[in-house]
Amino acid sequence: MLNFKNITIFFILLFVGFAVLGMFFTFTYFWYLALIATYLLFVGYGSFTMSSNFFLKAFTGNKTSKEKVVAVTFDDGPHPEYTPLVLQLLQNHKAFATFFCIGKEVKKYPEILKNIKDAGHTIGNHSYSHSTIIDFKGTKCWIEEIEQTDEAIQKNIGEKVKLFRPPYGVTTPHLAKAIEFTRHKVIGWNIRSYDKGISDPDVILKRIKKQLKPGGIILLHDTHVNTPYVLEHLLLFLRKKGYKTVSVNQLLNEK
Ligand code: NI
Repeated sequence: MLNFKNITIFFILLFVGFAVLGMFFTFTYFWYLALIATYLLFVGYGSFTMSSNFFLKAFTGNKTSKEKVVAVTFDDGPHPEYTPLVLQLLQNHKAFATFFCIGKEVKKYPEILKNIKDAGHTIGNHSYSHSTIIDFKGTKCWIEEIEQTDEAIQKNIGEKVKLFRPPYGVTTPHLAKAIEFTRHKVIGWNIRSYDKGISDPDVILKRIKKQLKPGGIILLHDTHVNTPYVLEHLLLFLRKKGYKTVSVNQLLNEK
């Protein structure tokens, strides 16, 4: 398997091999640098591609699902303005979703978190700070990020959180160690909308529709002005195509 450990061992062996051969033949530095650069390319790809399971095992969709089911997921909330609108739309369509919440936002809007739970949706952990430099943190800091968020959520909904989604979808060896300790199930996605980067909501919708497949996990953010519009049209489209919207947990168990 092409995971971090195996790739690292492979490249160390390759490097030693080069060094031994270097005693008999002359290699220029270029070859050593090329070797290191290739290794770093692998590591970079692994960091940014959760489905590669490079550093840790992540669930990014149910590939074996034959039923027309998808999980709609919302990151970065709760948000005082858009989360209530999202909840209303989901209720209107009798759809269930999964919300990956940021710990510090949970502390600001605990009543919205409760509303998510009371409506029957699933809540996951999305770190405490969601800081832009979070991926440079060590294992201890990661555990703090995860545990602080778990505590904030549990305090309000009285339930332990089992799911975790890494901010920006980036994974690192330190995060992998932290997850080994906290034992969360790591959830990614396989349908990315780029809803935070694209300003035209119809373009966002088009992107999602194009990638739609049974067992898919759709990534949205309940912190953006476009989200209610996108969600409403998405739910209508899913119904038209005969798709059922389920929580990530249900999707995991789909055969
Ligand atoms: Ni996020």
